[in-house]
Amino acid sequence: MKKILVTGASGFVGSFLVEECLRRNLQVYAGVRKTSSRKYLQDERTRFLEMDFSDKNLLKEQMQRERFDYIIHNAGVVSAPKLEDYWRVNFEYPKNLTEALAGCAPAKFTFISSLAAYGPASSEDLTDFLKEEDTPKPINTYGKSKLATEQHLAGLQDLPYIIIRPAGVYGPREQEIFTFFKLLDRHMEGYIGFRRQHLTFIYVKDLARVVVDATLSQHTHKAYFVSDGQYYSQWDLGKVAKDIIKKPTLRFHVPLTLVRAVAWLMERMGKGDGKYPALNLEKVRILESLNWKCDLQPLKEDMNFKPEYTLEQGIAEAIQWYKKEGWM
Ligand SMILES: NC(=O)c1ccc[n+]([C@@H]2O[C@H](COP(=O)([O-])OP(=O)(O)OC[C@H]3O[C@@H](n4cnc5c(N)ncnc54)[C@H](OP(=O)(O)O)[C@@H]3O)[C@@H](O)[C@H]2O)c1
Repeated sequence: MKKILVTGASGFVGSFLVEECLRRNLQVYAGVRKTSSRKYLQDERTRFLEMDFSDKNLLKEQMQRERFDYIIHNAGVVSAPKLEDYWRVNFEYPKNLTEALAGCAPAKFTFISSLAAYGPASSEDLTDFLKEEDTPKPINTYGKSKLATEQHLAGLQDLPYIIIRPAGVYGPREQEIFTFFKLLDRHMEGYIGFRRQHLTFIYVKDLARVVVDATLSQHTHKAYFVSDGQYYSQWDLGKVAKDIIKKPTLRFHVPLTLVRAVAWLMERMGKGDGKYPALNLEKVRILESLNWKCDLQPLKEDMNFKPEYTLEQGIAEAIQWYKKEGWM
């Protein structure tokens, strides 16, 4: 049985990666912290490896001892109270892990990056989409930290790596897009800005499937954008969810200039304690970006990728889960 390590296993994407690896009969090691919740890691076949990515000696000792056949490095921060957290967790930690793999490299090291590493495609020409050959232009620290790790990996010719850049991931256990669904459930349909965005999404089970496909494939030293191949406006997302939730809503739009002003103010006020506010200018830059379309051709060619879930099916399954769990 091949051994696979999934880091960040306790999180939303990580817990689905663990399930997918178990489904493929791999011997799964869930990389977690001492403090991590194991709520979604209940399958008794799952083994645990407590990791501290800041401890280089311990990492080295663990990697030498376990000699994993495959590693999916999924641990990361998508939203952090301090900007330096992005650099520490999304760049320094994966770098420490790759250094610990000297002399015991797995057959594949899969890094979960993000579309944000490239930044959005053109907001002027909405037929444009992100392509591998484009020059990456990340617009926030999160994207910059992911890109830095991609560039670090590109310099490691001896490590058979693959980079996965998912679009917005949604599904059961997810907490950010969920807040939008929860508001709809409470009869509030709120949008920021008035301009149509071209957003891209991937259902978490489809993502997990293609990440494991890529990890087990012969392909190395390559990067793939992942979405369901469609694009949606913010109103499409609302309409699909509303059709499932089936509650009347009060629709309102908050002007982007107002959100930008509040974010600016919150950043100024938060400077003293070194913390970055939940609403900040980095988030506003994402809200301002109109075009997140990306090229799926390499993924289709190399992995024969075809999503199993439409947005309607994915949101229906997610909302069913949120209701069952009492989240809404
Ligand atoms: N969600 C999306 O839409 C999306 C889109 C593109 C890419 N991604 C990428 O997918 C990966 C997973 O994201 P997610 O949405 O599943 O986020 P999540 O639910 O917040 O999970 C993050 C995971 O990383 C672990 N982690 C965070 N900080 C850590 C640290 N300092 N040391 C060790 N482990 C740490 C967390 O462990 P604890 O449970 O102990 O905190 C958790 O297991 C990330 O790399 C993210 O950048 C996500």
